[in-house]
Amino acid sequence: MPFDRSPKIAPSILSADFADFGRECRAVQEQGADWIHVDVMDGHFVPNLTFGPAMAKAIRPHVKTVMDVHLMIAPVDPYIDAFAEAGADILTAHVEAGPHIHRTLQAIRAAGMRPGVAINPGTPVEAVEGVLDLVDLVLVMTVNPGFGGQKFISSALSKVRRLREMIGAQEIHIEVDGGIDATTAPLARDAGADVFVAGSALFKGGSVDRPEVYGANMKAIRDSWA
Ligand code: DX5
Ligand code: ZN
Repeated sequence: MPFDRSPKIAPSILSADFADFGRECRAVQEQGADWIHVDVMDGHFVPNLTFGPAMAKAIRPHVKTVMDVHLMIAPVDPYIDAFAEAGADILTAHVEAGPHIHRTLQAIRAAGMRPGVAINPGTPVEAVEGVLDLVDLVLVMTVNPGFGGQKFISSALSKVRRLREMIGAQEIHIEVDGGIDATTAPLARDAGADVFVAGSALFKGGSVDRPEVYGANMKAIRDSWA
């Protein structure tokens, strides 16, 4: 995957039909999705439960783009191999998930995936400064993780801006996740983000039988950058 900072949309399947992930992934990709964002929650690190590596493996054949797996679990290390086997391209762990994020990110790379590190709204960007040489992506949460459909936290924008300066010319994506729509996406883009996770704003009003609505929702986000 060659690196570039052009804006990319990553639909979060948290807002898709859980009984039909395969078709949902195909539908959003046919409508132009750049990556597929897969939210893994454990009911412990965050107050919600979704699914694990078996589900990621099941949808893998339906993901022709990039499978971007966001782990909201603690601990992370015991599950790294399972997500590698499931076919994750990017595996992102939260800096808050344990005391040894450096080791975790090394282990993700060693397992053949591209490591990402995520920070919660209450965590300063300086928390990832010591691991920037290990990652391909930093995920700045723009809501508190756990649920779709929450309101964008605008104080995250100054963190994105600082992170963009810290990163300089290093080939590291800045991903924003939570409350991204046609109003907030341009703010995050201006601040320096290049990967935009969107759940509710993207799946709203559509279905696998009405995928053109997904396309229109994505277009609204893309048009907001124009
Ligand atoms: C939140 C997840 C997000 C979520 C975004 O914990 O990490 O990926 O699905 O959903 P929206 O776009 O609805 O805020
Ligand atoms: Zn996410």
